[in-house]
Amino acid sequence: MTDLIRLHAPLGLRVGTLLGLSSLISPERMAVDLPASEEPPSEAEVALHFENEEAVILRASVRGSIPGAPSLWQRWDIVFSDGQPEAMEQLIAALSSLRKTAHLRIAADEDVESARTRAGWDDVRLPHVALPEAHADLDVDLRAHLFGKELGAPLMISGMTGGSEEAGLINRRLARIAQELRLPLGLGSQRAMIENPALKSTFDVRSEAPDVLIVANLGAVQFNYGVDVDACQRLVEEVDADVLALHLNPLQEMVQPEGDRDWRGLLPVIERVVRAVDVPVLAKETGCGISGPLARQLADIGVRGIDVGGTGGTAWGWLEGFRAADEQRQAIGETFREWGIPTADALRSCVAEVGTEMSIVSTGGVRTGLDVARAVALGADVAGMALPFFRAANESEELGLAFGRRILEEIRIAMFCAGVRDVPGLRALEVS
Ligand code: FNR
Repeated sequence: MTDLIRLHAPLGLRVGTLLGLSSLISPERMAVDLPASEEPPSEAEVALHFENEEAVILRASVRGSIPGAPSLWQRWDIVFSDGQPEAMEQLIAALSSLRKTAHLRIAADEDVESARTRAGWDDVRLPHVALPEAHADLDVDLRAHLFGKELGAPLMISGMTGGSEEAGLINRRLARIAQELRLPLGLGSQRAMIENPALKSTFDVRSEAPDVLIVANLGAVQFNYGVDVDACQRLVEEVDADVLALHLNPLQEMVQPEGDRDWRGLLPVIERVVRAVDVPVLAKETGCGISGPLARQLADIGVRGIDVGGTGGTAWGWLEGFRAADEQRQAIGETFREWGIPTADALRSCVAEVGTEMSIVSTGGVRTGLDVARAVALGADVAGMALPFFRAANESEELGLAFGRRILEEIRIAMFCAGVRDVPGLRALEVS
């Protein structure tokens, strides 16, 4: 049975005729707090009132009382009955949407990065040229290219969100920032859109960013859990994307209470996806890194880009621990906080293996424009940032835009002081 997930805000509900709350739920059962004076029947209809949604109504049995309720309340262990597939689908879709909101709240409020592992940028020293003989604004050209599209700078807003109202708001802000600065924009996992087509609008931000490279997103493991390869082209078309990113996040899934654990046979499925869509496919990690040898395997089946998504920034195994209700699972998240290949190491390894044949994005702990310049000097086509853009845009669109402008200015300063005039020149620098 799946471990219970801790919700960021209590969910209002009804058990039979009794009104109550729950903060602990899974697709199979939940812990429900009811007033201590009332006792629920052993079999009951449960109505779950998710925000802005029609109630999800399920049949359930009440297994008995369990500890943990606040005073004047009693906590009950409730198990959903089998044989109600439609209601189950609604529940799973609603939980997916709540997961998105919870990820955003945790990413906004908690310390979600690896604690001791650095991405590796500090060890990359660009040369300093004391007499640049150039005008910083007239002679330094930040433009870069990714999958044939011209960008304002070698910087990407990495895929993060979509799938809830709040996530849609963030995506629209990020899209306007991307448009203003001419940066590629990644979307978060579109799994929520498959489960509930009404959520499409929270991903579809093309009207806000008509000129930027938009990257659709899906978790590769979803192909082992009912998502059809043929759904990919539709996911791309529905958001008018230029690239499809398939994310590889085994650690996150292993720590996530409701995570997907069957990762068998995915390489040939990814090969089928490559053939089934009419846009390039990018494989991305989400913070544990892709090695050169794996990049080689992916290149050999036709994947056109790698986002190395290395360690040293947002630590997803650790972040998932915040959602777990169970102390054992929280401890597992802590154990794996530092797990993975530091981003600069993953980048070096992928550049050495496939640098001449694939587009390479370097995300994971990129925190300044100087880090972006270092990543490009190591051979990345662009560097990606997720958490810092989310935190700035979550405050306001103005702060998000100001943050982006600061990063571009830092890239410019790094290039100017290193004596290079354009991104190919930056890439050609000899650094290690
Ligand atoms: C992410 N990331 C992510 N990646 C992905 O492929 N699909 C997704 O749905 C998400 N969701 C998501 C939400 C939030 C709030 C964050 C911060 C990140 C992972 C992201 O693209 C990136 O690979 C990692 O976060 C590492 O980069 P940073 O955060 O260290 O810059």
